[in-house]
Amino acid sequence: MGESTNNFVVIYVYSGIVFKYVWCNFVFWSFSGLIFLFVSNKFMINACVSLKEIANKAIPEISYICLNKLQPLMSLLILSPTRETDSWVKAIKEIDANIDVFVYPEPIDPKAVEFILAWNHTYGSLKNYPNLKCISSMGAGVDYLLKDPELPENVLLTRIIDPELSKTMFEFILAIVMNHLRGLTHFKQIQASKLWKPSGYQRIEDVRIGIMGLGEIGSYVAEHLMNLGFSVNGWAQNPKPNCKAKVYLGSEELEAFMKSTDILICLLPSTPKTEGLLNKQTLHYLPKGASLINVARGDIIVDADLIHLLDSNHMKTASLDVFTEEPLPKNHPFWKHKKIDITPHVASLTNPKTVAPQIVENYHRMKKGKQILYEISREKGY
Ligand code: GLV
Repeated sequence: MGESTNNFVVIYVYSGIVFKYVWCNFVFWSFSGLIFLFVSNKFMINACVSLKEIANKAIPEISYICLNKLQPLMSLLILSPTRETDSWVKAIKEIDANIDVFVYPEPIDPKAVEFILAWNHTYGSLKNYPNLKCISSMGAGVDYLLKDPELPENVLLTRIIDPELSKTMFEFILAIVMNHLRGLTHFKQIQASKLWKPSGYQRIEDVRIGIMGLGEIGSYVAEHLMNLGFSVNGWAQNPKPNCKAKVYLGSEELEAFMKSTDILICLLPSTPKTEGLLNKQTLHYLPKGASLINVARGDIIVDADLIHLLDSNHMKTASLDVFTEEPLPKNHPFWKHKKIDITPHVASLTNPKTVAPQIVENYHRMKKGKQILYEISREKGY
């Protein structure tokens, strides 16, 4: 073999070794790479699925918290020219410090307002907030909202439902009813003349109470008065299967209901159907000597008709906590009427602390586009 042949063999052998080395390495690393890719891919897929799940849950909150920070989104506006608002702000902030609570008339960008907590707002003012999505009444009633001729359309409406409101309403009504039964106002009046004049009293079992309006509060009051031994009937527009009292229904049964009532308690919402419902004719259905307690809305009563029924001695007394115009104008005849007791709309006041959780809940529901709690039907008016 010549030298060139030897060189050729050497080159062949060496290149074989190099090729084998490279090939083995290639195969080894490719294989390892594939395994790595396979394993890491699986890991990544699992990681992505978990991340996606976490994101699905977290993103609504994260996104709107970020949005609030980025584009100073004003979260919640309290629009109540007549109510004290500090305790509302504090109660809401205590539950969710991330909600920016503003109080009218603080200067704010109206475009940033999405949720309003309202009470006796100025009519026409709600239309100034182009991005408004939800209005929550600060009380149980929403009549003043629905009467706003410029109430924005397509805005969700909700109200307060709170067992505490029902409880404090029951306590107020019980105080008035017991005052009637035991004649406490009468004794206070004769005290001025130093008169010692005992008189009898009515017992709980002797009195028939009639409750108009058997919603959350009405049903609660009916049940708790019954538990004390009162005989209680109710009147409502629609059947109330869960109400323990006998329920009279609609205009056909109104007369029968009134005729079986010694103390009439009005807890109806103010709607076009109930406005002026207690008038000369309907109040006259009450037995002679009956009394009225109105803790609902003033416009359910025709004021002049009530005065007529009291003056003609058909009715004994009226305890009024609510009025068509509030504050009751100084020249209104109710102020001086001997048979009328007036209280300044204090029967049951919303407690910001107990209702803040439902407001915050509704705020978050509105933000996430979920069904809000206690939504109001504009058609029914409650
Ligand atoms: C009070 O009148 C209320 O609506 O809560």
